[in-house]
Amino acid sequence: MSVNIYDSPEELAQAAAREFANRAAEAIGERGRFAVVLAGGSTPRAMYEILARDYRDTIDWNNVHVFFGDERSVPPDHDDSNYKMARESLLDHVPIGSVHRMQGELSPDEAAEAYEHELRDFFASEDLPKFDLILLGTGPDGHTASLFPETSALEVHDRWVVANQVLKLETTRITLTVPVISAARAVYFLVAGEGKAGPVAEILEGDPDPREYPASLIQPENEPVWMLDRAAASDLT
Ligand code: 6PG
Repeated sequence: MSVNIYDSPEELAQAAAREFANRAAEAIGERGRFAVVLAGGSTPRAMYEILARDYRDTIDWNNVHVFFGDERSVPPDHDDSNYKMARESLLDHVPIGSVHRMQGELSPDEAAEAYEHELRDFFASEDLPKFDLILLGTGPDGHTASLFPETSALEVHDRWVVANQVLKLETTRITLTVPVISAARAVYFLVAGEGKAGPVAEILEGDPDPREYPASLIQPENEPVWMLDRAAASDLT
């Protein structure tokens, strides 16, 4: 695992924006497009705002194609919507090539099926989609995307996108599956805050039970990159 530790969440966000720009330039240079999966939650918002403010004229946004790793079962204008967060902090401010949101307003099964079709259309291949970059977070319980501990989606290997019932949240989320995330050319975990220190240490230095720490299930060919602030790294030896 590649682990980078930053003095503050702001420095982490700055570094993540730089990495995004580098990966975009590389992918567009080599393949003519940059297919990127945005993370939800609160941690990536600062990075998205930096991209919109400081990289508006330096990234070839017309060749950037945005997808989502997971979504809550809410409409796109709902405050809990990952799409809304990304739209307000980034997508409304740059001339983006295409945006592929998960339709949280549909039933989770319908939304998952529709999104899998959309991915199969975009990647036009039966093999697993190869995103250029997937951004992820992790929760205090070691979940990532909406792959929560002890949930059925952890065992799914024959689908690209599934509806995942999360009993403890009394909801069903829509999420990319482990094989799709692990097939990406690059996976970056952006993690800030002391509340994440325990799972981060277990995942990076322990012998994590993947059913308890689903983020440890993500094993792409190229080692995942963990970008941590000092608080999230505080339990690392
Ligand atoms: C979501 C996310 C989820 C998130 C973690 C961390 O929809 O909530 O995709 O996996 O990345 O929960 O969230 P924070 O960044 O808000 O701590």
